[in-house]
Amino acid sequence: PFILAIAGGGSTYTPGIVKSLMVRLEDFPLAEIRLYDIDSARQDTIAPVVEKVIRDHSQSITFTTTSDPETAFRGAHFVFAQMRVGQYRMREQDEKIPLRHGVPGQETCGPGGLAYGLRTILPMVELIDSVERYADPKAWIVNYSNPAAIVAEGVRRLRPHARVLNICDMPVAAMRNMGAILGVDRHKLEVDYFGLNHFGWFTRVLVDGEDRLPELRRHIARFGLLTEDAAQTDPQHSDPSWVKTWRNIKPIMDHFPDYLPNPYLQYYLMPNDIVAHQRPDYTRANEVMDGREKKLFAAAEEYKRTGILPDAFHVGVHGAFIVDVACSLAFDLRQRHLVIVENKGAIANLPYDAMVEVPAYITANGPEPVRMGAVPLFHQTLLMQQLASEQLLVEATIEGSYEKALQAFTLNRTVPSMQHAKAILDEMIEANADYWPEL
Ligand code: G6P
Ligand code: MN
Repeated sequence: PFILAIAGGGSTYTPGIVKSLMVRLEDFPLAEIRLYDIDSARQDTIAPVVEKVIRDHSQSITFTTTSDPETAFRGAHFVFAQMRVGQYRMREQDEKIPLRHGVPGQETCGPGGLAYGLRTILPMVELIDSVERYADPKAWIVNYSNPAAIVAEGVRRLRPHARVLNICDMPVAAMRNMGAILGVDRHKLEVDYFGLNHFGWFTRVLVDGEDRLPELRRHIARFGLLTEDAAQTDPQHSDPSWVKTWRNIKPIMDHFPDYLPNPYLQYYLMPNDIVAHQRPDYTRANEVMDGREKKLFAAAEEYKRTGILPDAFHVGVHGAFIVDVACSLAFDLRQRHLVIVENKGAIANLPYDAMVEVPAYITANGPEPVRMGAVPLFHQTLLMQQLASEQLLVEATIEGSYEKALQAFTLNRTVPSMQHAKAILDEMIEANADYWPEL
């Protein structure tokens, strides 16, 4: 049985991930779960809920919480990382500052994502170093920490040999919706997909060898990438803002019907439309703080008071996916999953060393990317521009370069001009004074 540490233990996602682990104990046996967070007050609030989720399934798993890296990682076999540097308060800034300049406010796309990247790269490297210092030498870090594309590139630059696998649940959430539309379990879909994290396209959706993308396209033209009962299949993404996000695939497919876009492409391809529908004073961070976070704190409070835990923790794809990936790493299952990996020719006309999102076979030694071939000029160009923006941001972080940060902001497709880029960057420097390296 494995020792697993969850870094970012105080996250609102922790109970859901632990629930997913509990229903898979036969596939992924656990001796110990350790929650690690630098915000111990927050982690302590959530910990009793997590412990209860564990005890409902197992009496034998040791459960600990800590803010000390050595206690967290000593001898660990797996680390699930989900840190959110600056917490939701800084997410709120990432979303609201761009909006003040008429630019989409989003935690991972546009200036918000770049700002979040500047906060996260160095703490992520610190985490990796702690894990390497204390954990089992063969330990894997499976990393959900956002902004995943930038974090992946930062880690590649700074710790190229680290055993880190960067993942995102968006492609698999899309596959869950595709499965629901087609009436097929998502595990039966085999997809081709190319891009960067939160910036990619599905090109084929095979079910028993048959490409069902044409059929999906007809459904999406009417309803978006969504079924009637979206709220049941996906509580995590059932707020109106998320329903709208899945619907917004429709205009993209109306214009470019060949492939099926990752929903995040809407921020780059129709930024004006996004801004027109966003509230500058109340963004997704506010929705999450008033929704998911409040609900979890209330559940923790109720559990403390009554000893009864409200049944709020659903096994969604977010938790299920990280457990699937960990199983494949642990037992060399060679399952095919969409993950973020070094390109190595998987996308023939992108740089060999770019961190891309493609299908890969997950072996005990890491991911083996599947060749997706060369992509059309339109997609290649969009990808190259986004990649350049993200790579410059990483260089800005490493070198403390204002100029490169400004170039990263200017190259981002959500930003209409160099003047916008500078105004947003300068405001963000102030807002991130406690977090960014000095530029
Ligand atoms: C998806 C993305 C994550 C992102 C999350 C935000 O799951 O893959 O990268 O962080 O959505 O969801 P939220 O409910 O916090 O807005
Ligand atoms: Mn993601």
